[in-house]
Amino acid sequence: MHCCKHTVLRRVCPSPAPRLFRFNHSEASGNNAQNLQTPPRTTHFGFRTVPEETKESLVKNVFDSVASSYDLMNDAMSLGVHRLWKDDFVSQLKPGSTGPTKCIDLAGGTGDIALRILDFARERYADRETSVDVVDINGEMLKEGHKRFKKTMYHNTPQIAFIEANAQELPESQFPSNAYDLYTIAFGIRNCTSVPDVLKEAYRVLKPGGTFACLEFSKVNNPLFNAVYDQYSFSIIPLLGTILAGDRESYQYLVESIRKFPSQPDFVAMIADAGFATGGNHEGKGGAWRDLWGGIAAIHTGVKV
Ligand SMILES: C[S@@+](CC[C@H](N)C(=O)[O-])C[C@H]1O[C@@H](n2cnc3c(N)ncnc32)[C@H](O)[C@@H]1O
Repeated sequence: MHCCKHTVLRRVCPSPAPRLFRFNHSEASGNNAQNLQTPPRTTHFGFRTVPEETKESLVKNVFDSVASSYDLMNDAMSLGVHRLWKDDFVSQLKPGSTGPTKCIDLAGGTGDIALRILDFARERYADRETSVDVVDINGEMLKEGHKRFKKTMYHNTPQIAFIEANAQELPESQFPSNAYDLYTIAFGIRNCTSVPDVLKEAYRVLKPGGTFACLEFSKVNNPLFNAVYDQYSFSIIPLLGTILAGDRESYQYLVESIRKFPSQPDFVAMIADAGFATGGNHEGKGGAWRDLWGGIAAIHTGVKV
């Protein structure tokens, strides 16, 4: 595109043409006079049930719509708390601590995690070789990220690249197997149609010994706190979406999608199913995840064995 040699913003992996119905062998063989069709497989889009094939474009519409106001809205909705969580996430991972770290940040959007990774490695370890490939399915979000990085010292260096691709099917030619030390995904995985497919790809692209780390909204444990949080989420956030971004529906989706995401232990089971070694299936020290703010968000990690 319009980018320099290193800060690439490129499109890979166009999504396959949507198929509304699964192939029905009996129809093709001409034996089925009743012309039966297999019903489409469904998934959730917020609280709605939709055919699997349509979720990707619905999610794309949401992020096309919110891209230009995304950073402002993140601050407004979380009262700035998302910044603390992201700082916490990156400092837990210590990029650069064992030498230059090759990172891939999936659903990287406007580059919030990538910027923190590069700053952390440079400020703590004087490391200017750690690099991040920011990957997102949405070109509009990546454009915002690219614009933002233009104002940083990382622009025009091999430390950063923006690449448009689907977390569920990273093309091997662009993202070879066993290539990365660290895979991050923040507030992104719940938007993907198939979480197991994302995890499978994460496992593939990581080097043996590499770390998978996910920061995502999760389940609040305390019922009283949960009631307050629910009230805030369902009344204030869509209202802020209307006032600040003129877009209630997208923010309603964001809140609903949080409620549909698996609980902390269920997500651990999915990470383990993908082949990762996790800590024990509990929260905290030695556990597979760490809750932030009573479970509003959680950090899950796994190591490729
Ligand atoms: C809530 S934003 C998070 C952005 C950034 N990680 C952050 O923490 O600020 C979710 C991002 O997930 C991206 N996304 C959704 N489905 C995706 C997929 N299948 N593959 C890659 N990115 C996806 C969206 O385009 C959007 O940029």
